[in-house]
Amino acid sequence: MRSKKNSELRTLHSALKRPDLSVNFAGIRLKNPVLTASGTFGYGSEFADFVDLNKLGGVIVKGVSLRPIKGNPPPRIWETPSGMLNAIGLENPGVDVFLDEKMPYLRQFDTAVIVNVFGYSLEEYVGVVERLDGVPGVSGLEVNISCPNVKAGGIVFGTNLKAAFELLSAVRKATTLPVIAKLSPNVTDITEFARAARDAGCDGLSLINTLLGMAIDVRCRRPRLANCTGGLSGPAIRPVAVRMVWQVAQAVPLPIIGMGGIVTGEDALEFILAGASAIAVGTANFVNPRATLDVLSGIESTLREQGAGNLADLVGKVDAG
Ligand SMILES: Cc1cc2nc3c(=O)[nH]c(=O)nc-3n(C[C@H](O)[C@H](O)[C@H](O)COP(=O)(O)O)c2cc1C
Repeated sequence: MRSKKNSELRTLHSALKRPDLSVNFAGIRLKNPVLTASGTFGYGSEFADFVDLNKLGGVIVKGVSLRPIKGNPPPRIWETPSGMLNAIGLENPGVDVFLDEKMPYLRQFDTAVIVNVFGYSLEEYVGVVERLDGVPGVSGLEVNISCPNVKAGGIVFGTNLKAAFELLSAVRKATTLPVIAKLSPNVTDITEFARAARDAGCDGLSLINTLLGMAIDVRCRRPRLANCTGGLSGPAIRPVAVRMVWQVAQAVPLPIIGMGGIVTGEDALEFILAGASAIAVGTANFVNPRATLDVLSGIESTLREQGAGNLADLVGKVDAG
């Protein structure tokens, strides 16, 4: 009788106790696993009316390049069933403006700042990475490898194993910061690219970036996007993303930031069970600017319901038989 009561009290106690959501991601301390997916949360200030940035595990900022980039002509966005296509073209003001105008704002908060970087040649990547090394408040770099190398006939770094390895090796050598390779899903076997990132010395992985897609207006017989093709994101891609995180988690021992269509805490926990240590919320921010906080409270309440005291214990714990 007494032992039944004790066990009921233990269950009640674990339900009331706040689960430990903290994550050590490749040496970056995150108070919880919820990050913002690059390009969907600006540089943080754009969402300040809706989200207290101190509550997030971290902010992954919009892609930063060595020089300013104007982006593609409109239309640049098209809504699809359960998702969206975008061809923004990585518009950004360049690393100097980022450092002068965006970083001073971001470093006021008690949250990790991960800077997403890209370029159109190996030298441009290395240039932007060098400018960010040692900058106070920058916790790590996320390297978007889904860009064409204009010096090599436009071959996309992230879909060619040799190009991806050479790029990530050069980036690794150019910085003392943790390097997180953001993988492209537009490949046949994503585990090969995860291994290339590991061999290049990367500290972590982010996946997935958008899936290449296209939509056509049948009346005027023209593509919906001025760029013709664009990146598909949102809930439509979630099962693909979860599958890729699961495959990669088994292939390499690097920590993973999982993303692709996360809208709720349960969506996020799918990625955690598949093997991600942290997650990022992207397209959902456009529908609900407080999506990051909703995902966070959803994770916490699901853990409480299940009596789980520690998020880290769930990483990779899907029972796939
Ligand atoms: C409008 C938009 C802009 C994006 N910009 C970037 C970017 O600058 N760099 C990058 O690595 N990924 C970028 N992404 C990809 C997202 O960070 C994320 O990997 C992808 O959208 C999947 O997550 P989601 O389905 O939750 O949006 C962008 C996505 C969208 C929708």
